[in-house]
Amino acid sequence: MFPCVNQIPRAFLFSTDERNQHMLPIRNITRSRHLKTVPLFAGLFFVQTHATYAQETTTTAKVAPATQYQPSPVPDRIILTWNGNPATTQSVTWRTATNSGPGVAEIVTADAGPDFESSARRITALTERLTTDLSEAHFHSATFDGLSPDTLYAYRVGDGANWSEWFQFRTASQQPEAFSFMYFGDAQNDIRSKWSRVLRAAWTDAPKAAFMIHAGDLINNAEADQQWGEWFGAGAWMNAMVPSIPVPGNHEQAKVDETTRRLSHHWRPSFTLPENGPAGLEESCFTLVYQGVRIIALNSNEKHQEQAEWLDGVLSENKEKWVICTFHHPLFSTGKDRDNAQLRAIWKPVLDRHRVDLVLQGHDHTYGRTGLETPVGSANVASGVNVKDTFSGTVYVVSVSGPKMYTLQRHPFMPRQAENTQLYQIIHVDGDRLSFEAYTATGELYDAFTLNRQSDGTNTLVEQIPDTPERLRPPVQSAPAKKASEVLK
Ligand SMILES: [Fe+2]
Repeated sequence: MFPCVNQIPRAFLFSTDERNQHMLPIRNITRSRHLKTVPLFAGLFFVQTHATYAQETTTTAKVAPATQYQPSPVPDRIILTWNGNPATTQSVTWRTATNSGPGVAEIVTADAGPDFESSARRITALTERLTTDLSEAHFHSATFDGLSPDTLYAYRVGDGANWSEWFQFRTASQQPEAFSFMYFGDAQNDIRSKWSRVLRAAWTDAPKAAFMIHAGDLINNAEADQQWGEWFGAGAWMNAMVPSIPVPGNHEQAKVDETTRRLSHHWRPSFTLPENGPAGLEESCFTLVYQGVRIIALNSNEKHQEQAEWLDGVLSENKEKWVICTFHHPLFSTGKDRDNAQLRAIWKPVLDRHRVDLVLQGHDHTYGRTGLETPVGSANVASGVNVKDTFSGTVYVVSVSGPKMYTLQRHPFMPRQAENTQLYQIIHVDGDRLSFEAYTATGELYDAFTLNRQSDGTNTLVEQIPDTPERLRPPVQSAPAKKASEVLK
C-alpha cells in the first residue's frame, strides 16, 4: 500500500533526533506537528517509527539467567510460611548474596502512623549457603513467635544495612473464624511469562486470602535456579504478605541415578515449613491448623506407607471441623494413562476412614472435580464407581495453573472437567459451610460447589457449576480428502 521507506521524500521522514524524540511514546507521535500538517502521511510515520523500534529491540542481547537471577545484598525471594501455630507465629525466608551481613528480621505491631519501626523487635535468622547452577547464595530463615492472634504486624528482613520494604501480615485467630484461601495446580513451565498472570488474577479476586496452597510442580527442573527465580518473581510481594503452603511434586525431585530421586536442594532453604511429619520428610509432609481447618500436606513422591500411618494418627487425634489434604499425584487421575493405583491403594482407605472433606491435587495438567460419590477404599476408577456400596464423602480436585496442557481423561463421577485451561481456585470456609470456586486465567467462574456440614458429621454437596460450556481443546481439523488426481503415487 505504501512505498518502501527508501522512496519516501526526505522532507516527510523524521530526522534522527526527531525519531528518538517520537519513537517510544506513541502518544507523543499523535500530537506531533507532522501528523497535524501532513495527515496523509501519518501511516508512513507509524511504519517508520515501528520499523526503527523493532530494529533496535532485536539487536539487544538477551540477559543471561546468571545475571537476571543473581543474588545481591538486598533481600529477594521473600516468602511467608509457617512452621508453627499461625495464630502466634510467622516464618519468613529470603535470599541474599553471600557477601551480605548476618540475616536479621524485625517485627512490630503495624500502625497507621509511619513511626512504627522505633519499637520493632529484631531476631537473628538461620542462614544456609546454597550452591546452584547459577550462583552461590545465602538463604535466611526466621520465625517470629509470641505473636498475638488476629493482629496486623509489619516486618522487614535484611542484614542491618540492606533491608526489604516493610511488609504487613495478619496472624490467624485462635478461634474457628471465616477465611478464604487460594489453591493452585502445577505452575511448572513458562513460569514468569505465563503463570504469573494466574497467580495475580487470583490475588485480585481474593486479596485478603489467608494463604496459598501450591499442589506441587512449582518448577520444571528441580535444581534450575532460573526457574526458582521465575517462581519467586511471579509471586513477588504477594509472597511476602500472603503465606504459602507448598508441597513437592515429581518435578521438585532431582535425579540421583536411574532409579533414585531426591527432593530439590532448593526446597528446604527456600521455605520454612513444619517439621512435624514422618522422619525424613521434614518440610515436605506436615500439618497445621488455621482457624478451625486442619491442613495436611503430603509428599506423594516417596514413603507412601509411612505417610499413611502418620496420616492415620493425625486424623485420629484431629479435633478440627474441616480437614483439607493436599498432595501432588492425584488419587483419581484426569490425564490419560496416568492412574496412580498404588498410591490410591495406600492412601485412600485412610482418607475414607476419617472422611476427609477435600483433597487438592495437581500433576495431570487438566481440571477435574468429583462429587461426594467416589469409590470407597482402593477400588480403581473403572470398577469402583459401579460397585460402590457407600460414598467416601471426600471431594477430590485436580487443577493446573501453568500453561502446560495434557489430554483429558473423562470420568462419569466428575461433574466438571476441563482441558486447555489455566485455572486458580478460591476456597472459603465459614462455620458449617465450605465453598469452592474455580476460575479461569481470565477470571471467569468455571466450577463451584458448596459443602454443608450436617449434625451427624457428614457433608451434603450443592452443585453450583456455572452455565458455561465445558472447555476442551479445539478439535484437530482433518485435512479434506484429496481428489484422486492429487494423490501422489
Ligand atoms: Fe507432576
